[in-house]
Amino acid sequence: MFGIDGKKILITGGLGMIGSTIARMLVDNGAIVTILDACIEPFGANLFNVDDIKEKVSINFSDIRDKESLKILVRDKDIIFSLAGQVSHNDSISNPHLDADINYIGHLNVLEAVRRYNSEAVVVYSGSRLQFGTVQYNPVDEEHPLNPRTPYALNKTAAENLYKYYHELYGTRCVIFRIANPYGPRGQMKHSKYTIINWFIRQAMANETITVFGDGEQIRDYIYVDDLAEAFILSALTPACHGQIFNIGSGVATRFKDMVEAIIGIVGRGCVKTVPWPDNYINVETGDYITDISKLRGAIPWMPKTDLESGILATYDYYSEFSRYYY
Ligand SMILES: NC(=O)c1ccc[n+]([C@@H]2O[C@H](COP(=O)([O-])OP(=O)(O)OC[C@H]3O[C@@H](n4cnc5c(N)ncnc54)[C@H](O)[C@@H]3O)[C@@H](O)[C@H]2O)c1
Repeated sequence: MFGIDGKKILITGGLGMIGSTIARMLVDNGAIVTILDACIEPFGANLFNVDDIKEKVSINFSDIRDKESLKILVRDKDIIFSLAGQVSHNDSISNPHLDADINYIGHLNVLEAVRRYNSEAVVVYSGSRLQFGTVQYNPVDEEHPLNPRTPYALNKTAAENLYKYYHELYGTRCVIFRIANPYGPRGQMKHSKYTIINWFIRQAMANETITVFGDGEQIRDYIYVDDLAEAFILSALTPACHGQIFNIGSGVATRFKDMVEAIIGIVGRGCVKTVPWPDNYINVETGDYITDISKLRGAIPWMPKTDLESGILATYDYYSEFSRYYY
């Protein structure tokens, strides 16, 4: 699968949920994988995420804000998955400098290192659906206007523009994604700041009450992490994707309260209560969001394989066995 045997890959943020899932798929398909991760709290870095492949990957505890280490690590790589990030949009409001340092300057460092030391590398960037801000129509395609409303979304958008700029000016082979709501095994479970499905599964497993803001009617698009990882790898290997922007999600509309009920049903514990939207969330609420995945599906032979129920079950099974490594 993939035709990636023997290729040299760097994954920044590779100890997190998405990066470690990509790492596992690459290793299974014969690639030579190096992980760069700064292990910054409270993000999702977890050595257990790569425990079963630890003999087959090199791990470099470095930081994308460290230009000297990037200078060395980008050399001789065929593909760089540029996933390192501050991932919480609420934390970006309370600490905008950290967000800009990592999510903008850090990515400028990656691109400059690629331009100067390995200009042939393919670089895959992971932006966010939050770049769209308030949704004007659904499903959201790549032409939907961007209206970022938090420092996280602003810096993701600014970094996306950097990737576009490097492609246009220097021919850097970038693939740009805007991700909907990912979830699955190996996601952080220590807090509710992002990857909300994982957090709700933890709450249900502890037989706690899951709090839903508003009436729970809001529509979201949840994508299982393996489906995401597969699309990232395929797009990197497809020259027609280089220089392109893709929205990625499952393409399936799910009401928030249906997602919560599915978790409670599958885990068999927990209950739900609704409360009014807190101020710090209503400010960043985007309205209903469904991804138009037709551009991506036209570009690579890919279709999300995991429906929400199967994905929740697989995630629940994973944490039933390994929760002690996560919280
Ligand atoms: N999880 C989501 O909801 C979501 C949604 C859209 C986009 N994304 C983006 O996808 C990427 C991966 O997210 P994830 O879900 O795997 O989150 P994660 O928290 O599991 O992984 C992020 C990883 O980046 C590492 N990191 C953070 N700053 C770093 C730095 N300066 N240098 C090196 N490593 C650093 C963290 O230690 C962590 O291991 C991020 O860029 C994120 O913004 C995530």
